Amino acid sequence: MSEEKLKILIIGAGGGREHAIGWKIAQSPRAGELFFARGNAGTAQLGTNLDIKETDIPKLLEFTKKEKIDLALVVSDDPLALGMVDEFKKAGLRVWGPTKRAAQLEWSKAFSKDFMRRHHLPTAKFEIFTNFEKAKKYLEKESLPIVIKASGLALGKGVIIAQTKEEATQALEKIMVKKIFGTSGEEVVIEEFMTGPEISIHAFSDGKSYKMFPASQDHKKIGEGDTGPNTGGIGTIAPLPFVDKEVMNRIEKEIVAPTLKGMADDGTPFEGILYPGLILTKDGPKILEYNARFGDPEAEVYMRLLNSDLLDIIDACVDGKLSSLNIIWKKDIFACNVVLVSGGYPGNYEKGNPILIEEGGGGGDIVIFHAGTKIENNKFVTNGGRVLGVSAIGNTLKEAIKKAYKAIEKISFEGMQYRKDIGKSALK
Ligand code: GLY
Repeated sequence: MSEEKLKILIIGAGGGREHAIGWKIAQSPRAGELFFARGNAGTAQLGTNLDIKETDIPKLLEFTKKEKIDLALVVSDDPLALGMVDEFKKAGLRVWGPTKRAAQLEWSKAFSKDFMRRHHLPTAKFEIFTNFEKAKKYLEKESLPIVIKASGLALGKGVIIAQTKEEATQALEKIMVKKIFGTSGEEVVIEEFMTGPEISIHAFSDGKSYKMFPASQDHKKIGEGDTGPNTGGIGTIAPLPFVDKEVMNRIEKEIVAPTLKGMADDGTPFEGILYPGLILTKDGPKILEYNARFGDPEAEVYMRLLNSDLLDIIDACVDGKLSSLNIIWKKDIFACNVVLVSGGYPGNYEKGNPILIEEGGGGGDIVIFHAGTKIENNKFVTNGGRVLGVSAIGNTLKEAIKKAYKAIEKISFEGMQYRKDIGKSALK
């Protein structure tokens, strides 16, 4: 007896994450037609890219009802912050992702820091301000460097590490007085600077139980040796050789489990992907921030390492049956994803440059995930800052990294840039 195939809508920012999730979902025997809002040239190979913005709730609701979509996945921050999941639930539709109140862990840094304080979760010392003068005064007695964070979403640009008091005051002025991030800067968090390696943790949660992913690491800065301005994330590796079982157990016991319990106890059970960004300090793992979705480019390495059927996991999450599922990750396999970006990114960059992938680019242990790409005259062209993610798997981290860089030799577009040191510090 053949099982009915599901029509699935993936709502997200149309980046490498959305292509990777679609790529994995498409491998499920139960996956039917796939739709993407937004998509890119990669997702167009898997299904249909809709001409609807990922934040357009009324149009997405209308499309879902009209097309009789069986399951909608909300995978990026903006639609989650707008309450896409709540609206789909209200309309009686099957949807996966956290509600607006649960996603507040990501879209309000003031909320998440207050949550961490109330639930005694390990994080940097901090204070929250809505008044510029009071914030400026607080700086006087604090030591340097110091971290200034706009509370709301700011495309990854709302965190400033100030080395001097002047720099800190200028950051406060830009956010609170000049309002360069709009309403996202109405509240500001000032926090102690912590040092140590930064890592990404992900867990599936159905609100009652959770399943941990292996740890991963993103590379945020544009320049080699972690220099230059921040990007959305331009290279990931997983699992991490420097995070052993003992550290993972601590992270699970001290951070993931109490966070999810805290959310449930507060009446806002978290369903979806909980992604805390952590720092491994000499006093143990501490929370830098929470995200309420898959990381990008973390999703790209995770989708290469996940053996289980992603659709089965998501279905179990939606039905509140995650605890009955055994999630299997590829054993003794490592993944690396190097992001190729447009010249000038994260500043201004050109779009519309033809992308050349030579014969033999991709395939085997290599999967190329599209991010800022589109199809023009039957050819791939650049259409964003982060253009492609070149992912590889190997029996060691070193091998996975080597394969990813080898594959990049077959890809080119005008202005193409990438970091040559993804995963280098983890190999030390
Ligand atoms: N890896 C960065 C992010 O997804 O926010």
